[in-house]
Amino acid sequence: MTRIEFLKSLGLSGATLFSVLATCTLESCSSKGNDDPTPTPPTGGTGVTGTNTGSNIDFTLDLNNASNANLKNNGTSLVSGDVIIARNNNGDFVALSKACTHQGTTVNFRAGSNDFECRNHGSEFNANGGVTKGPALSALKKFNTTLSGTNLRVFA
Ligand code: FES
Repeated sequence: MTRIEFLKSLGLSGATLFSVLATCTLESCSSKGNDDPTPTPPTGGTGVTGTNTGSNIDFTLDLNNASNANLKNNGTSLVSGDVIIARNNNGDFVALSKACTHQGTTVNFRAGSNDFECRNHGSEFNANGGVTKGPALSALKKFNTTLSGTNLRVFA
């Protein structure tokens, strides 16, 4: 049964049916949402000390801070400044420049394949930042990570 058939079965017609359909289409019945297999990573905000943008990247994320707590779990990622930090399914951290080398779109971590993709034109990068699929031609910059307690340092 389609959405329209269902609404008609409720006795809705004419202007009422149009109103319900318009509201549904504009607000709540989109097929987008929680079915996205590679959701956009959250952006780390507070709980960051140091420099997370530019050419002198060296910062520390406090994983006890709610903004960064996502990284306490394997298979997750977040963006902090110019860097995307992922925690793969083995619990290892990977930090790469977030901007796709094709046209600058923020890449997404894919835990299942332990790699990164750019949704803009489909480029893919391995966990070392290397290009595995174009159109990007250049690697993402990889940063070092060290975990001390619940403090994750990311640096060049
Ligand atoms: S901007 Fe990433 S593939 Fe084009």
